[in-house]
Amino acid sequence: MHVLGIESTCDETAASIIVDGRTILSNVVATQIDLHNHFGGVFPELASRRHVEAVLPVVKDSLETANLTPEGVDLIAVAQGPGLIGSLIVGLQTAKALALGWNVPIVGVNHVEAHLYAAMMEQEELLFPGLGVVLSGGHTFLVLMTGINDYQLIGTTVDDAIGEAFDKVASMLELPYPGGPAIEALALSGDPLRYPFKRGIVKGRPWDFSFSGLKTNVLYTLKGPNTNRYSPLILSENEKAHVAASFQQTVFSDVVEKAYLAAEKYACKAIYLGGGVSNNRHLRTLFKEQNKSQLPIFWPPFGLSLDNAAMIAGLGYHVYNAHGPSSFDDLQPKPRIPLPTSVVSRI
Ligand code: KG4
Ligand code: ZN
Repeated sequence: MHVLGIESTCDETAASIIVDGRTILSNVVATQIDLHNHFGGVFPELASRRHVEAVLPVVKDSLETANLTPEGVDLIAVAQGPGLIGSLIVGLQTAKALALGWNVPIVGVNHVEAHLYAAMMEQEELLFPGLGVVLSGGHTFLVLMTGINDYQLIGTTVDDAIGEAFDKVASMLELPYPGGPAIEALALSGDPLRYPFKRGIVKGRPWDFSFSGLKTNVLYTLKGPNTNRYSPLILSENEKAHVAASFQQTVFSDVVEKAYLAAEKYACKAIYLGGGVSNNRHLRTLFKEQNKSQLPIFWPPFGLSLDNAAMIAGLGYHVYNAHGPSSFDDLQPKPRIPLPTSVVSRI
């Protein structure tokens, strides 16, 4: 089954052709980084306008790269949310128009679930129950997975998403957007133990994350007490690298520790990671170093950590086989669905 995936939840317009949920024939991504760099984050209205311009050329490119004509497409999978409302509308309307024009079924996919599917896509055998760890610009989740499409929420963030915290700290460090890769690069020349930042603690909720206190801590270290993000830096270039390394270390040691504790508590047989932040090499090293019980850890393959449509098409194949097509009425943009509502339960 050839599935065309369409992704437009945030600042990437992407289309991909996947066979039977696994084999990638094309994976085209038009990034908008140049557009948003100037603002230090995504400017929603500009994002939707750029999606409008990019979506059809990206779909065309994905078909051509896969050497496929529209007649060869069996299903269209589209990211239905969560994401920016204007951006979602562009992907959904395009997918619906193509489904009508080509007379193919269509299925809506949860973007957060798709991030985790990216780590499963190339595996011969999947191990369940598994611990899913979603670390992206908009989402931070620990979930218990009993199947590809079956989740229960364990923990999430009470304020910023993890990638958002990276982007905001990068902006304080006067680094470009997106901040994650820039912090990772700067941290390479810094000492991760130089600044003993405190990880966020959420009272009575041991599985949840909080990054806002840490962000303020970094701000005051960089600019002095009671300053704001517009105040000038008081630290030297050298010290900035130590701050980047210490921030990264504080955030990741929190994630790694919670992930292993959760995996143990819920008897998980594997850990699946997804989302842009899972691209970070230091994170991968920490997971490896602290893997005391030798749990299998699955990372998204190259090119599938950041937003892409291959993960949407891949998951779409499974959702369609399990539940059939989505109706056009169901395919409304859902800016705030964190996980499928039928399975979200706090444990
Ligand atoms: O998954 P993604 O492409 O988009 C969302 O669904 O949000 O994630 C983008 C986020 C950005 O916040 C970016 O700074 C972060 O992922 N990111 C990283 C790295 N690469 C991307 N964070 C830390 N280290 C990286 N190497
Ligand atoms: Zn994403």
